[in-house]
Amino acid sequence: MRSPSYSSPSIADAVIPSAAPQALPTEPRFHQRHVETTDTVRKELLDGLTKPQADISPKFLYDELGSSLFTAITLLDEYYPTRCENQIFSRHSPDIVAHAGPVCSLIDLGAGDCAKAERLLAHMRPSHYVPIDISVDYLKTAVKRIADRYPGLDITALGMDFFNDLSIPDEVHADQRAFFYPGSSIGNLPPDHAADLLANIRRQCADGALIIGVDLVKPREILEPAYDDAVGVTAAFNLNLLRHVNAILGSDFNLAQWQHVACFNEARSRMEMHLRARVATTVRWAGGERRFEEGERIHTEDSYKYRPHAFKAMLARAGFGQIRYWTDEREWFAVFCARA
Ligand code: TRP
Repeated sequence: MRSPSYSSPSIADAVIPSAAPQALPTEPRFHQRHVETTDTVRKELLDGLTKPQADISPKFLYDELGSSLFTAITLLDEYYPTRCENQIFSRHSPDIVAHAGPVCSLIDLGAGDCAKAERLLAHMRPSHYVPIDISVDYLKTAVKRIADRYPGLDITALGMDFFNDLSIPDEVHADQRAFFYPGSSIGNLPPDHAADLLANIRRQCADGALIIGVDLVKPREILEPAYDDAVGVTAAFNLNLLRHVNAILGSDFNLAQWQHVACFNEARSRMEMHLRARVATTVRWAGGERRFEEGERIHTEDSYKYRPHAFKAMLARAGFGQIRYWTDEREWFAVFCARA
């Protein structure tokens, strides 16, 4: 029996070998590998909060409200990265995909709603799509949409913490893997961790490619408003972190006492996001408390900005070759494609 997924084969289907039809349509598979207990989450939060220079991991920015606020950020006039990256993919996807070479599986790091990969799929035609996010629950709706749209595509959704463990299961063929890491999320890691992640990707990528979005260095006058917009959405996004922490820890952060701060640290080439105490305050939770002086800050996230040659050198050190990049017309953002 012919696969119903390719019931009307076109010339294009016939000439793209990686779009080979499956014998039978396969159901998407979901594997949740990363498991976090409330105890480890609480411990991680308390370790950060009780340090002399307090911090809260940026992963707590993305609860349900935080994720909606981030979507709103991408619509702001000041927040250029999403629009720049979209422009690059809409103009250069065919070239980027051609440079990546033949792809058997597309591995989507931090896939979320899978919308960015979905646009690549049309050009790339892999036989296997592997979206990865911290929880497979985030991937369910999007995977259903993609499975409906590409019925012959094999899909394995993975719930993994790929910063700590990037072991791709054997059901994903070892050859011709393309890793896809858009959104400049690599910039949210300190450069030594970013270099480790790139090296881990390279190790999992025998003869494939990496397609990665990277935000570029630019004047403070452009960077700072992108992280502190006039409407106040970014401030709400950052402050929401305290609301989320209150929900997890049962702590009593009073959001009115805190202020969003975003500044460009030129020496370290990064945007730094903090929450600054407007007044001296003591935050309490069951079993502990922390006093903050007026002006004291909790560090929430950094966003490193790269110069193209520096990022190229980082990819080369991780073992990638044939490195090319494309930028938007203002050269504010870059999409790199490197071969393993
Ligand atoms: N990954 C996004 C970035 O670095 C996250 C982000 C945007 C962010 N605005 C923020 C994080 C404000 C903290 C505060 O661009």
